[in-house]
Amino acid sequence: MMDRISISVTVNGTVHTAEVEPRLLLADFVRETLDLTGTHVGCEHGVCGACTILMNGDSVRSCLTLAVQADGAEVETVESLGDAENLGPLQKAFRDHHALQCGFCTPGMLMTATDMLRKYSLETDDDIRDGLSGNICRCTGYQHIVDAVRAARDERDGR
Ligand code: FES
Ligand code: FES
Repeated sequence: MMDRISISVTVNGTVHTAEVEPRLLLADFVRETLDLTGTHVGCEHGVCGACTILMNGDSVRSCLTLAVQADGAEVETVESLGDAENLGPLQKAFRDHHALQCGFCTPGMLMTATDMLRKYSLETDDDIRDGLSGNICRCTGYQHIVDAVRAARDERDGR
C-alpha cells in the first residue's frame, strides 16, 4: 500500500485534516472522505466540468487535481452556495430560469458561474457563454443556463 500523506484543507470554511494516498483525487476526497457529494464526477478526464470546484478562488477540475495538491488550500464546493431550504442567489436564478433538468451538470455550472461572477463583468451573453464553455450539459439546453447567469449578474450589479 502506498504511504499516506497528511493534508489539511479548508473546505467551505472548515479545516479538515486527513491521511490520504498520494493518488487520491480531490473529487474523491470531497465526495468520499468528506461526504460532500454535491460535486459530481462525469467524464473523469477533464472534459465535462461536472466536478468543478474552487481552489484558492479559482475554478479547477477536481477530477484532474490530486487531494495532496489542495494541502493548505481553501476549497469551495457547491454546498457552500446554499441548501434546499436556503438557496443562494445563483441557485435561485437557476431554479427560476429552469436552468437544469437532470441536474448532473449543475454543481459544476454553479461553481464555474460563481467564479465568473466574482471576477468578470459579464456584460454580454457572449461573455457568459465563453465563461461556461468548459461545462457540458446534455439535457437542459444552454440558453436557460445563460439566462440564469445573466439574472444573477443583474442581481449582483443591482440592475
Ligand atoms: S468529471 Fe471532471 S471534467 Fe468531467
Ligand atoms: S441538466 Fe442534465 S446534464 Fe445538465
